[in-house]
Amino acid sequence: MRSRDPSMRYLFQPRGVAVVGASHNETKIGYRLVQNIVAGGYTGVLYPVNPKGGEILGVPVYKSIEEVDGVLDTAYVAVPADMVFDAVKSCARAKAKFAVIITSGFSEVGNSAEEKRIVSYARDHGIRVVGPNVFGIYSSSVSLNATFGPSEVKPGSVAIVTQSGAIGVAMIGKTKVENIGVSAIISVGNKSDVTEADLLEYLTRDRESKVIMMYIEGIKAGQDLVTVLRTATRKKPVIVIKSGRSKRGAQAAASHTGSLAGEDRVFDDVIRQCGVIRAESLQEALDWCKFLADTATPKGENATIITNGGGLGVLTADACEKYGVRLYDDVQDLKKTFSQIIPSFGSAKNPIDITGQATAEDYDHALGAALRNPRIHAVACVGCQVGDFDARRFTEIAERRYADYKPVKPIVFSLFGGADVESSIAGLKKQDIPVFSDVYEATSFLGAVYAHYRNKARSTGTIERADIDASRVQSVVDKARAEGRVFLLAHEAQEVMLAAGISIPRSRIARKLDQAIRYAEQIGYPVAMKVVSKDILHKSDIGGVALDLDDKDEVIDAYEAILQNCRAQRPGARIEGIEVCEMVETGVETIVGARRDPSFGPIVMFGLGGIYVEVLKDISFRAFPVTREEAMSMISEVHSYALLLGVRGANKKDIDTVETTIVKVGTVLQQCKDISDIEINPLVVYDYGQGATAVDARILLSRSEEAA
Ligand code: COA
Repeated sequence: MRSRDPSMRYLFQPRGVAVVGASHNETKIGYRLVQNIVAGGYTGVLYPVNPKGGEILGVPVYKSIEEVDGVLDTAYVAVPADMVFDAVKSCARAKAKFAVIITSGFSEVGNSAEEKRIVSYARDHGIRVVGPNVFGIYSSSVSLNATFGPSEVKPGSVAIVTQSGAIGVAMIGKTKVENIGVSAIISVGNKSDVTEADLLEYLTRDRESKVIMMYIEGIKAGQDLVTVLRTATRKKPVIVIKSGRSKRGAQAAASHTGSLAGEDRVFDDVIRQCGVIRAESLQEALDWCKFLADTATPKGENATIITNGGGLGVLTADACEKYGVRLYDDVQDLKKTFSQIIPSFGSAKNPIDITGQATAEDYDHALGAALRNPRIHAVACVGCQVGDFDARRFTEIAERRYADYKPVKPIVFSLFGGADVESSIAGLKKQDIPVFSDVYEATSFLGAVYAHYRNKARSTGTIERADIDASRVQSVVDKARAEGRVFLLAHEAQEVMLAAGISIPRSRIARKLDQAIRYAEQIGYPVAMKVVSKDILHKSDIGGVALDLDDKDEVIDAYEAILQNCRAQRPGARIEGIEVCEMVETGVETIVGARRDPSFGPIVMFGLGGIYVEVLKDISFRAFPVTREEAMSMISEVHSYALLLGVRGANKKDIDTVETTIVKVGTVLQQCKDISDIEINPLVVYDYGQGATAVDARILLSRSEEAA
């Protein structure tokens, strides 16, 4: 991974900033930047730069950035695209440490050459580039609003990194309306130099930023991002909202930023592997951000629902299942805790139903009892407007209980009803208390609280290593390359399997019939036979495969039949021989794969064979390398996992061998840069302790220009 510049603080805490292209014209971006910096009360020194000189909003204007005599950390560049290169040259001469290039008209519209020229000059002259094509930066630590968005920002503890400039600018206004305090807002634009990984690394260390939210359209240099995210998510919640879930959306995202929106399924699995919490919508992300920074970390998994309506309670329980919130189920303890509050016709099984006749005072008692019980770790207090429910009184109680227990345990509220209830919600919201009109919204927030709790608690784990014979793999690959192939033949793929220590069926290639008979007897019946030819890829389609051969006579017949079929169907094909191999015992068929992902680099894949992968798409991915826990979790999270555990009297299968096979396959891909795809299909997995066999493996090579 590229070593990061420790001076990223000069971007977020600059002592002096220049605006190159500061304009006297109030309609121009160069004016808006100066105006926002002045209005925001920036604590450093501002140097507007414009060849005309003069003053803008009372601040003296420099005719050239090189005339700036004070300390200058960051230059904001807002001149037309064809002037940016010269402007960056001047910034370098003025010893600026960062150039934030607002200007559009570079790689996002195909003008990559000019962008590369600018970045390469900047790199050679010790200046880092943010953008081009960004809206600027807001940073609360020095009260810097160097953006051309709205001028009012509420300082606080949420850091926002966005790939979309428009969403970033809109976020400035939206966070203000939602009363969300922000520590930083920054867009990465074309990411010609500074990437999300650079920004995240800084924001992870930044004390003012307690929650990080990212809006992502596509990932470049994802390996760096994975490394940084793994650390970041242990320290603070990282929330991601990614567009491009749908096929249509992915196409739009790809053309929008000029970067490829990777397959959403891979993205989803990999960011979860890193501990990132993914929001479904911008509003959900904002709701989480608003409250996460100030919500206590739960001390355990026992959440409890208090409700005055059975229906609302069940809905909340459903939502808990959806968002991974576990309900406390010690009925004896729950009965003891709530015995004074629940009427005989209520329920002390979680959800705690204090019934429709409950008053605000009953809620107070129930909340108090739940909050005092150390075995209850989080509370969802939900209510319908029924009977004697006094929304105004409820608001007062919720405020008091929340204030008392805010630092101790997470509490969320959800109310459903008419005008009184809506004004109660508005009142509680004003106090920054997590209250929602829908139990699903409330529970989704609680789910985010628990996701972060589990991230903090998850073990760091050690990266799993596999010993593979890389030079043996390379010589197989070199031979295929020498023949101009971008795929390996079956026996070559088997050679790679052996080099990686993965079991394959015993097999030998016979050049003559008597050899075939001898090999079949050595291997032991039943055997299978397959044609070996570079010119025949789909052997079974043309009768090049025979299975379950039980004796010598069947071997003789099959040998002749295979040769005849191949000669008839592929007259010109060169036939190297007939492979005689062991008929593999039955077990659970799985698929293990690895490939180079355009966003994340090496990734590994797992699924169960047949319909599970092909039809149900029941697969999981991880960025490689992985820890043992990560490899195990990718096996256990597929829906068909139960088949490996043994169902209907079947024995448990050798899951450990599946795990080591995933690591071996990933290691081959990682160490042999020529290989782009490996797929073992099927990897037949036997009973626990009996291992697994790679029956067939398909290996593709990168086109030579892609190979690293
Ligand atoms: N140093 C300093 N100032 C310079 C300069 C230099 N080398 N060369 C020109 N200027 C001044 C100009 O004189 C002008 O000031 P004036 O209005 O006082 O005359 C100012 O810089 C701006 O130049 P101008 O030619 O008027 O450009 P513009 O304001 O119309 O457009 C951009 C400049 C950067 C705003 C425009 O090119 C652009 O890229 N807009 C899109 C920005 C965007 O959307 N970014 C992505 C957001 S997510």
